[in-house]
Amino acid sequence: PYPIYSKMREEDPIHAVRFPDGQNGWMVTRYEDAEKVLKDPRFTKDLSKIYGGSMDQMSVFTQNMLFSDPPDHKRLRGLAQKAFTPKMIAGMRDRIQEITDELLTAMEGRDQVDLIDEFAFPLPIIVICEILGVPSADRDKFRLWSNSMIEGTSGELGATVYQHMNDFVQYLGQWFATVREQPGDDLISSLIQAEEEGDYLSERELYGVITLLIIAGHETTVNLIGNTVLSLLENPKQRKILAQQPELVNQTIEESLRFNGPVEFSTSRWAGESFEFQGIELKKDDLVVVSLNSANHDRDQFAEPELFDIQREKSPHLAFGKGIHMCLGAPLARLEGEIAIASLLDRFPEMVLAVKSHELEWRPGMIVRGVKELPLKLK
Ligand code: HEM
Repeated sequence: PYPIYSKMREEDPIHAVRFPDGQNGWMVTRYEDAEKVLKDPRFTKDLSKIYGGSMDQMSVFTQNMLFSDPPDHKRLRGLAQKAFTPKMIAGMRDRIQEITDELLTAMEGRDQVDLIDEFAFPLPIIVICEILGVPSADRDKFRLWSNSMIEGTSGELGATVYQHMNDFVQYLGQWFATVREQPGDDLISSLIQAEEEGDYLSERELYGVITLLIIAGHETTVNLIGNTVLSLLENPKQRKILAQQPELVNQTIEESLRFNGPVEFSTSRWAGESFEFQGIELKKDDLVVVSLNSANHDRDQFAEPELFDIQREKSPHLAFGKGIHMCLGAPLARLEGEIAIASLLDRFPEMVLAVKSHELEWRPGMIVRGVKELPLKLK
């Protein structure tokens, strides 16, 4: 699905870009280079080192592990990590199955549904809201704010985005006050306790990590579910293989992550110093973006990369990134994806796309890859 990347990988794998704000940068499209960038400590993700205090207005979005370097990174990630260990996540299997079944039951008897709106979106939201301890009844508000922040960051950061950020911060402030009075058994309560103990989290960092988790919980797994269903519907042979061998569901998820990963570009990195990288002279502060989806279609790494093949044996894809910033939510996303796809195919084995593939509209922006709506006939 990415002919432009294949041309870039061949002819200009580390492509010079001048970004709209005048910043010099590079776009990395080959697997080998992408992996090296993600693991190289000479790149920084700490925005304050690049932009100084001018990022203050964005701090709710940026004061977190994703935009920090060691040693801060370890402290910020460590606190949240407790809630996302494979063991903690495995313990959520029954609850995720229960939510999935409820959503599928609500779709029964309907002729046509938008799978994004009725299933792929609510499932990960309800789950992340339960982990954090925020009311999932407010999920429409979260969706608006989160979409606005993520799509806004890829274009002009307009007044509406700031308004949404402010609304979101106000909401969180009120919610934190409630939790301070009556802590529960959830992640926000434990982070607030850490903040109150002093030397762990600042108030800004508390907002930063919650914002990151809400956005990550909203913008990614929904596309994993949507993109996997779409790939299966567009590749009937693969769908048949999966129907005959349901145990291939985990491999299907991995192949979908490789083939059509929910995160198009890894978030940016900047050269922390001037140095030579793979034959290119990088100057300090140059911006480097990695196309994960391009790397995952590199024929030096994957045989016949343009084929969606759920029986692919080895798939060291980069959909969750690599190195110290590798996705914290990967075990959760994989489990949600596995349960969602297995249960959906089991409940509606006859489902088909209700529109032609080319009529589907993809979400704007460079960060996420997923369709806006996925209309299905359930039969
Ligand atoms: C980081 C992808 C789901 C939380 C990342 C990164 C990628 C990624 C590529 C690395 C970014 C970089 O290096 O610049 C995905 C995909 C998902 C997914 C494809 C779904 C299929 C989730 C979920 C959560 C989550 C469900 C949590 C609720 C995070 C966090 C980080 C992160 C906290 C930052 C880690 C750090 O900086 O140390 N994710 N993600 N992700 N992801 Fe995910």
